Amino acid sequence: MGIKFFEEKKFFKLDAKDTSYIIGIVDEEKFLGHVYFGKRIPDEPLDISSLLRLNEPPFVPSKNNRDRMSFYDSFPTEYSTHGLGDFRESCLVIRDSNGHSVCGINYCSHIIYRGKPQLEGLPATFGDKDLCTTLEITCCDKVLNLEVTLVYTAFENLDVITRSVRVKNNSDKVIKLEKVLSACVDFDGIDYDIISLHGSWARERRVQRMPVGLDKRSINSIRGESSHQSNPFIALMDKDANDDYGNVYGFNLVYSGNFTAVVEGGQFDTTRVVMGIHPTNFEWTLAPGEEFTAPEVVMVYSDKGIGKMTRTFHDLYRNHLIRGKYKDRKRPVLINSWEATYFDFNTEKLLSIAKEASKLGIEMLVMDDGWFGKRNSDNCSLGDWYVNEEKIKGGLKYLVDEVNKLGLEFGIWFEPEMISPDSDLYRAHPDWCIHVPNRTPVLCRNQYVLDLTNDEVVEYVYSRLKDILSGANITYVKWDMNRQLSDLGSSFLPKEKQGEIQHRYVLAVYKLLDRITKEFPHVLLESCSGGGARFDPGMLYYSPQIWCSDNTDAIERLVIQHGTAIVYPLSAIGAHVSDCPNHIVGRTTPFETRGFIALAGTFGYELDITRISEEDRKMIPGQIKMYHKYNDLIRTGDYYRIANYTENHQYDCWAVVSKDKAEVLVTYIQVLQRPNYRSRRIYLKGLDENAVYRNTETNQAYTGSALMHAGLNIIGIHGDFKGKLIHLVKEK
Ligand code: DGJ
Repeated sequence: MGIKFFEEKKFFKLDAKDTSYIIGIVDEEKFLGHVYFGKRIPDEPLDISSLLRLNEPPFVPSKNNRDRMSFYDSFPTEYSTHGLGDFRESCLVIRDSNGHSVCGINYCSHIIYRGKPQLEGLPATFGDKDLCTTLEITCCDKVLNLEVTLVYTAFENLDVITRSVRVKNNSDKVIKLEKVLSACVDFDGIDYDIISLHGSWARERRVQRMPVGLDKRSINSIRGESSHQSNPFIALMDKDANDDYGNVYGFNLVYSGNFTAVVEGGQFDTTRVVMGIHPTNFEWTLAPGEEFTAPEVVMVYSDKGIGKMTRTFHDLYRNHLIRGKYKDRKRPVLINSWEATYFDFNTEKLLSIAKEASKLGIEMLVMDDGWFGKRNSDNCSLGDWYVNEEKIKGGLKYLVDEVNKLGLEFGIWFEPEMISPDSDLYRAHPDWCIHVPNRTPVLCRNQYVLDLTNDEVVEYVYSRLKDILSGANITYVKWDMNRQLSDLGSSFLPKEKQGEIQHRYVLAVYKLLDRITKEFPHVLLESCSGGGARFDPGMLYYSPQIWCSDNTDAIERLVIQHGTAIVYPLSAIGAHVSDCPNHIVGRTTPFETRGFIALAGTFGYELDITRISEEDRKMIPGQIKMYHKYNDLIRTGDYYRIANYTENHQYDCWAVVSKDKAEVLVTYIQVLQRPNYRSRRIYLKGLDENAVYRNTETNQAYTGSALMHAGLNIIGIHGDFKGKLIHLVKEK
């Protein structure tokens, strides 16, 4: 059993693979305290009261009620509430029917059971009874008659503990929730660093490292989506932790809307980490008897640096989050029309690309933005999901059938959550967009956001998607979202629920995704948001892959994919070989290098193959062969970062090692050639020390130990932006 309750000493011990997490119930009032999170330790003997400093001033209230406030303000609480004197970051802020915001919760009861529950209306990781144990601790505020249930699941095969929270109003009055975060962990000490993933459009998920200070660091999005700018991930780590060494605690919110993660260094040398839905623009009316569920936070502990944390997240998401037909399968090699034609295509053009693609071994054609309404630029037609037969002559079914005849599957682009002011839909239903009456909503990419809090709007979107997807043999959908939410107002919701728009919006997106994925289980869904603005575990629950960035330049992608892969598996990273000079940065890189870098993702093409040079075109069949040869390894293996170009400014290197350590693929990219420096030694990781590995190209043999400690010399690369794959196989 991964979770135990020690009745006499009143503590819970949650054991994941090599991780322990301990919660204590203390004093007569049954405060719930956080005792420990870290490397697995034996069950007993354990001195909970000393670890919680209960025998030191200010003491517990039963011994020193004079200083009750100091107790609240220093006790490492398991879930912080606002109003009684814990002035550190709180997780729960309420407003009762009298306008007061005071709330304090104490232990009431608990249950422990095998398995893991799903969360009502929300994505979450899943696990069977043989792998997972769940603890639900119900705490109560007896004055408010409010019940707060803290839900924890320990994965016995991984260093993972998940958390979520349910808040139930058992009173006969309405209670407003102003903030309901999902997790709170109080760490001892403040000598930690934080990493987070920061960015912008075309510059997503750059790793940022900073120290914990005696103040608050907050990583957040209030943009209505997880965003380009931030990602719902942080890791707290020892100051000297690196990729291979040190204690690292990763936190990732399984949610696609506004989020906050706050790290607070406190006056008594403790560090509080909280994470959940951002309280800005959040409010929830909890009528008598109603319950609110906060999204899941995944907590990963690593005793061996950031690298081990990464591999745990990858394993968890590949096996316990991503679902559907493509969960464990190679994805078809696709060619996408966006960078090939932008809006300028028709049946003839698409068929000419498909014809060429089929000759080269490409397996799917994806028709991106521009096939519907009157859409020839981004200034109209979102919402009018009817095929533009002036462009798609003969209709969609004809085009899809012709593409299928060429031996290719067919995929299509949608932006279901949006509406253009210049659309038939908007002309018929101007009140269907999110807006505030008497204010013209702010345009972004010429579009508004649909008010998905209104079921009628959702029904319309669903019926259009269903109609298109049922009308032809479509096996892939790219689900895009090209703007963030502003002008928060809904003509559908009553006044007192206007503060619920953003969370209701996210719930509606999930519901829609759920319906579409259930109705069309054979369709491969790739989510996208102006590139990679919604790359989060919430979306991964519905779509096994996410477009990583509009920036497809190979060198830029080194940085973006490096940051993304800190948390998310390579199998989920949408990556394509695109044309040069690159459309975002104007850089020209070798076609071969573009292939190597796209290989560390889903792999595909995004260029007009009828127009590229013969020399580049000729490389495509070889690249596709390479994809088929290595994708099982890349999709399922352990990912090791070896060198990082953002740190050394010269080269990048990573490796994927199969789970049984029998096969290794090393990717080495020389970003900038250094004068008088023609070879470089790299040190592999994660191999079987005692095994002999043979380079399948040169036939040279090495011991695993030599490859890791003495290194592997990379020779023969001359020039900028050049790369090399090294494939090693363990000798039998
Ligand atoms: C943004 C996406 O990231 C692109 O790949 C493309 O689909 C465009 N939207 C289309 O408008």
